[in-house]
Amino acid sequence: MSKGMRKGLTSYGDPGFSLFLRRAFIKAMGFSDDALERPIIGITDTFSDYNPCHGNVPQLIEAVKRGVMLAGGLPMAFPTISIHESFSNPTSMFLRNLMAMDTEEMIRAQPMDAVVLISGCDKTVPAQLMAAASADVPTILLITGPMLVGHHKGEELGACTDCRRLWAMHRAGQMDEAEIDVVSGRLAPTNGTCMVMGTASTMACISEALGIALPGTGSIPATHADRLRAAEASGARAVAMAKSGGPKPTEILTKKAFDNALTVLQAIGGSTNGLVHLSALAGRLGIEIDFDAFDQLGRTVPTLIDLKPSGAHYMEHFHWAGGMPKLLKELGDLIDGTALTVTGEPLSAAIEKAEEVPNQTIIRSRANPLQASGAMAVLHGNLAPRGAIIKQSAASPTLMQHEGRAVVFDSVEDMTNRMDDPDLDVTADDVLVLRNAGPVGAPGMPEAGYLPIPRKLAQQGVKDMVRISDARMSGTAFGTIVLHIAPEAAIGGPLGLVRNGDRIRLDVANRSINLLVDDAELVERRKTYQPPPPHEGSERGYLSLYLKTVNQADEGCDFDFMRKVPEKN
Ligand code: FES
Repeated sequence: MSKGMRKGLTSYGDPGFSLFLRRAFIKAMGFSDDALERPIIGITDTFSDYNPCHGNVPQLIEAVKRGVMLAGGLPMAFPTISIHESFSNPTSMFLRNLMAMDTEEMIRAQPMDAVVLISGCDKTVPAQLMAAASADVPTILLITGPMLVGHHKGEELGACTDCRRLWAMHRAGQMDEAEIDVVSGRLAPTNGTCMVMGTASTMACISEALGIALPGTGSIPATHADRLRAAEASGARAVAMAKSGGPKPTEILTKKAFDNALTVLQAIGGSTNGLVHLSALAGRLGIEIDFDAFDQLGRTVPTLIDLKPSGAHYMEHFHWAGGMPKLLKELGDLIDGTALTVTGEPLSAAIEKAEEVPNQTIIRSRANPLQASGAMAVLHGNLAPRGAIIKQSAASPTLMQHEGRAVVFDSVEDMTNRMDDPDLDVTADDVLVLRNAGPVGAPGMPEAGYLPIPRKLAQQGVKDMVRISDARMSGTAFGTIVLHIAPEAAIGGPLGLVRNGDRIRLDVANRSINLLVDDAELVERRKTYQPPPPHEGSERGYLSLYLKTVNQADEGCDFDFMRKVPEKN
């Protein structure tokens, strides 16, 4: 089935010449005719000096290449952009779609019979999967893997749940400058991705549930020899996929694969970002994510994984407790084991091989869950006509039904400037509101939804408040935080009409978030509503494209023209 160098010839009007020229140029790299007749396996190189989460990519590429060559293929690594959370301005989310387009077009443009995608940091996995879904070349995903746990004064530390907790202690005056400096060198002790159940770990688990990565490989620590063996195995499997022509992403990423992924998202106490990325990925394939069904899963699927921020442990513990095959086994009939995986076998084959680890407590049984309900609930109400999300597994039970006075911040900048003002009129019972922080408003829907507790309240010992926004939050964060309010304020969503002092009611049991202001008053407010001014530089370049075409959170914040056009009957 493989076409190797003959695939996708450059257009010169003479295919024979195109192939001749291609071979002439590639021979400059010293390849033999024998090598050039082999199935070609593309390998994405997402290494960057800016991306410690991908710090092991050079070694992984070498191991994938070894696997490819042992199986008789020709590995060809090629670069794409790399996105790290802390090094992306304004946000990594702003760039996710750019990486997806870059990756898709490089897969399309260059000759390859199969591709091994290597990624791990939050936006890179969804970007590559979106690309693979659209390009539809046989694909296998290799996760870079979580970093090892950090230690400080006898305590285990995890990026970045503890980054936030310890920074909050520093803000509250409970940790001095010298100690927070020491901590900054201990939170991320190795390369690899954040080792709590943040977005990177969520996407790694979801990728296994989708069947697009080899079973059991998502949670292997970045620094372990098994990670390199997984890379070698991924390369070898890619050659088999190249030879047989599949399975392709469209054969793997089916409705039942998404149903499995959504179930896993609930069961792992996963990141809210996982839902955004799954929505974007599903949109590439013409599959609708049913948010009501997802909410229903949240009521029936228990949280089974004892990892921060919902629990106490870290990805390496999850891995040694049996990882995803064991979790899928515990989920039992909640998982559709007939879904196809990159192995060519159904998911049930991986579940049957799940390792039983005596006395492990990280992966719970359904009879003894960490929490009886799943990670997330979907909210609706007059503040969120197209929905909003709360990660209930990481929220304070005492705030799940709460009514309070709105304290409104008009932008991330406004929040930054005023949150710690000693004169800010705020109490612990208030509801902090951040708006104009959505896909268009910020732009890039930053992880600003984890509004900090105002310093004067933090110093009084307040650890959580109800906070609502059209932003996202890091999957590593903890708190009673309503996110992804859609439509966002910047495109006219009702969040823009909230005023200081309005009453807001959060009722998670009834899945509602409402502004307690009557409709007639809201109609009056809309008449005088002023949208935020245009972003600087928005008339050109990628920002212009982004602002004109980005979808809302409920559609995954993909570009509208990248979604699959529904087929006509
Ligand atoms: Fe890359 Fe957390 S910053 S995974």
